[in-house]
Amino acid sequence: MSHPPLSAGHRQRLEELERRRAVARAGGGAERVKAQHAKGKLTARERIEALLDPGSFQELGMLVQHRATDFGLADKEYPGDGVVTGYGAIGGRTVFVFSQDFTVLGGSLGEAHAVKICRIMDQALKVGAPVIGLNDSGGARIQEGVVSLGGYADIFLRNTLASGVVPQLSVILGPCAGGAVYSPAITDFVLMVEGTSYMFVTGPNVVKTVTNEEVSSEDLGGAIAHASKSGVAQLTAPNDLAALRMTRELLMYLPQNNQERPPRVETSDPAERTDAALDGLVPEDPKKPYDIRAAIKSVADDGHFFEVAPLYAPNLVIGFIRLDGESIGVVANQPAHLAGCLDIDGSLKGARFVRTCDCFNIPLLTFEDVPGFLPGVRQEHGGIIKHGAKLLYAYCEATVPKVTVITRKAYGGAYDVMNSKHIRGDLNYAWPTAEMAVMGPKGAVEILYRKEIAEAKDPKAKAAQFEAEYTQKFASPYVAAARGYVDEVIEARLTRPKLIAAFRMLATKRDKNPPKKHGNIPL
Ligand code: HXC
Repeated sequence: MSHPPLSAGHRQRLEELERRRAVARAGGGAERVKAQHAKGKLTARERIEALLDPGSFQELGMLVQHRATDFGLADKEYPGDGVVTGYGAIGGRTVFVFSQDFTVLGGSLGEAHAVKICRIMDQALKVGAPVIGLNDSGGARIQEGVVSLGGYADIFLRNTLASGVVPQLSVILGPCAGGAVYSPAITDFVLMVEGTSYMFVTGPNVVKTVTNEEVSSEDLGGAIAHASKSGVAQLTAPNDLAALRMTRELLMYLPQNNQERPPRVETSDPAERTDAALDGLVPEDPKKPYDIRAAIKSVADDGHFFEVAPLYAPNLVIGFIRLDGESIGVVANQPAHLAGCLDIDGSLKGARFVRTCDCFNIPLLTFEDVPGFLPGVRQEHGGIIKHGAKLLYAYCEATVPKVTVITRKAYGGAYDVMNSKHIRGDLNYAWPTAEMAVMGPKGAVEILYRKEIAEAKDPKAKAAQFEAEYTQKFASPYVAAARGYVDEVIEARLTRPKLIAAFRMLATKRDKNPPKKHGNIPL
């Protein structure tokens, strides 16, 4: 169809629009973009492009400007105010995104910057779509003073209200310091880039002044420090691009909101596939470790396991797999670290993950091989009682489908905690190598037969005899099976088909907790 030529006035208006857009797109200018690239970082807009499906980004608030007048800002224009906001798609599903632009006032957060972030968060909550924050900021904009602090608080409130309603993912791609860290901290997952990102409440200079400790930014709050020591970050990547790809993959295991289920991903991996190698996975010697990830990968569609927080508390393995195309959250004791004992960090890691899965309708699969809670003064004084209680509480309150596979030890309180049937585990399977008891044979015999052993001619032989009797009775799944505490003892090789059948049956599960304002998890 032919159109009459545009008038000069119309053309001028279109050119004006394009001119304004070009200024906004240029961010802090070529020099600062160059400096950003020189640090190995992408720009705010390049990151959005890498994150979203090609061509899907719809920018909102591109021309928003600050209204600050102090410290030389009155005559400075920064269209977009240092943050790119909008919506787009990942795998065809809508997501909202904000991306802080370090080239504009160091990505610092002022009033307009905060309002832009709040607007997309409000919209995301209304339509039920995830929010992804790409953080690269010098923190509160110093020139705007308390208004900046107010802006942060507005975001923190929205993070909290959106928690458990829509998934919130934070990717840290540069500085994130001071109170600014508390927005990512409230979100469901924190991903950090190694070498170029850091998070801390107070930086190395303040630390040096106050405590006289000398530490680099990287050691204090870099990706590896938070992924391995503090547990603040669940995932790390070597560069921006890898972090954004990881974010895309993670999102595919999550639903759009708490009213929906995660997307199915069709697989050609047969549901009835068995794995004879699993029958020999658990060593005959109960003290020998093995890698529980072999079991997880064996049952997963195409052997793929998206492990979360691999560097933190490796004695408990968590992450996502697909079973027959459905997203499943996995929690597994890891006998290859601390013999699979539950400690403070492992309990925190597990509790948080169980609650994340439960609030987003992701069924839970638990692999259990746990000799108990880790003994020690550090653990007791560190509060293993209240932290272990968090994991117990999280499993108890979870109403999603919950299936357990006991591969070997299910000892003591940890037996109850790891999704036992008593706390609403739906289906609990045991391999023939499973053993359920109050404690291991050595400890049990020392308590039960202390006197007899002490008085025996050959105390060692006597203890060994008692241990053998105890082992004979308890080192099997059959006492628990006789009670119905396990639903079925299965050949390990059949685990995948059994699990798929179980989760198919449980797909329509309905369960709920008593009405309450909210529970009082022992924080
Ligand atoms: C305004 C800021 C800024 C800020 C950086 N800039 N941070 N402008 N407010 N908070 C500006 C710089 O002036 C500079 O402008 C540009 O951004 C790039 O900063 P550089 O210092 O040149 O970059 P770099 O050497 O990479 O250092 C980055 C940095 C440093 C480590 C983030 O800028 C820094 O320490 N900034 C202050 C961090 C801080 O203390 N923020 C407040 C935290 S408290 P020009 O024009 O020269 O390029 C907080 C409270 C939140 O955030 C409260 C919530 C409750």
